[in-house]
Amino acid sequence: MEKQRGSFTGKLGFVLAAAGSAVGLGNIWRFPYLAAKYGGGIFLLVYLILAITFGFALMSAEIAIGRKTGLSAIGAFKALDKRFSFVGYLVSIIPMIILPYYCVIGGWVTKYLVSFLSGQASATVADSFFGNFVAQPVEPMLWFALYLGLTAIVVFLGVEKGVEKVSKIMMPILIVLSVIIAVYAMFMPGAMDGVIYYLKPDFSHFSATTVLAAMGQLFYSMSLAMGIMITYGSYMKKDVNLEQSVRNIEIFDTGIAFIAGLMIIPAVFAFSGGDEAALGKGPGLMFVTLPKVFDSMAGGSFIGGLFFLLVLFAALTSSISLMEAVVSIVRDKFNVSRNKAILIVLAISVILGIPSSLGNGIWGNIKIIGLAFLDFFDFISNSVLMPIVAFLTCIFVGYVIKPESIIAEAEETAPFKAKTLFRVVIKYIAPICIVLILISSVLDVLGIAKI
Ligand code: PHE
Repeated sequence: MEKQRGSFTGKLGFVLAAAGSAVGLGNIWRFPYLAAKYGGGIFLLVYLILAITFGFALMSAEIAIGRKTGLSAIGAFKALDKRFSFVGYLVSIIPMIILPYYCVIGGWVTKYLVSFLSGQASATVADSFFGNFVAQPVEPMLWFALYLGLTAIVVFLGVEKGVEKVSKIMMPILIVLSVIIAVYAMFMPGAMDGVIYYLKPDFSHFSATTVLAAMGQLFYSMSLAMGIMITYGSYMKKDVNLEQSVRNIEIFDTGIAFIAGLMIIPAVFAFSGGDEAALGKGPGLMFVTLPKVFDSMAGGSFIGGLFFLLVLFAALTSSISLMEAVVSIVRDKFNVSRNKAILIVLAISVILGIPSSLGNGIWGNIKIIGLAFLDFFDFISNSVLMPIVAFLTCIFVGYVIKPESIIAEAEETAPFKAKTLFRVVIKYIAPICIVLILISSVLDVLGIAKI
């Protein structure tokens, strides 16, 4: 099959498209609840250290692999070394696991947006609102279907560029609005303890699970270890500065996650009167806490409505990139038309999305290794498969194609400044850490050992 590969126009085009994929629910919904759950400041610190080391090295490697080969994940690994073809396949499974449950959460955001726009903001404030909503068998499923449908329509019509254009305007507004909400939240009575909890590392909360959770979050948030950045790299022109682009995406992505934490964690403290149990709310944290913040603000229902609209756009650009990735894999592998591939992906998403939604209610007592469906899919992709892929990528780059080949690719445009860091992280630090952390935390989840 003859394939036409377009390229991004200039550096900004590339950075913005990659940032559109990176910035999404991972930053605004997932990061704050993990930070709250895994000890606040210590999680933030571990995350930042991992971002400038692992994140930087892996993202540079993935983008360079894509640009060097001009292929997406499956083809790229195969083209560089036949023995590593299987990594390409492994990589392809991950977005398929993430997409369905991502759309379930996207459905929740849509529900909140519509509640705020239709003047029902005050109903969302009650503590039981979120729990009751997600526990229903039918309603969340309809929102999930709506959100999944929205994503599919954009992919079907091929109007991603249009959505990306809109989000280029929305993204800066989201940042400004989040800063305003964060500043407001920080100064609510009782919130300062939350600011301290979030910013000051408490080393007694440190464990292997903290590192694994932060690492999984890093991969998820930056759309790493699932082939997406390889595909983006394949569209990147040679005259775009690779290292600089990676830095920009990282700053953007981490900055938004950081602000989201500042918006949510102090507010949890303000509303729970310092009861730390409220921090462990998990996936519902953002949905339970933010309506209370908006409710206490002047003009809060307008601000809340605007906020959920912006989050919806950020989420859509991410789910579109997830769906695009899966569609192109299905197309290439099964040799079907694009439209057929979209239908197949939709069917799989519905099949995997239904248990993710029902697991919050009537299927709540069905657990896989102690986790409800949504958490299980999240765990398998973020805490098991992605670290494995990241490990294999490090071995592949460090010992098979050699770090020099990536550095040379980056240096097509400008000197690669962080060469030594890159080499040491990819060859030694990252693979060793990933293996240790993976083993210890899988044992932990299986209840075999606590480290
Ligand atoms: N990075 C996106 C987010 O933070 C999620 C995502 C993961 C998107 C993988 C594409 C691929 O929400």
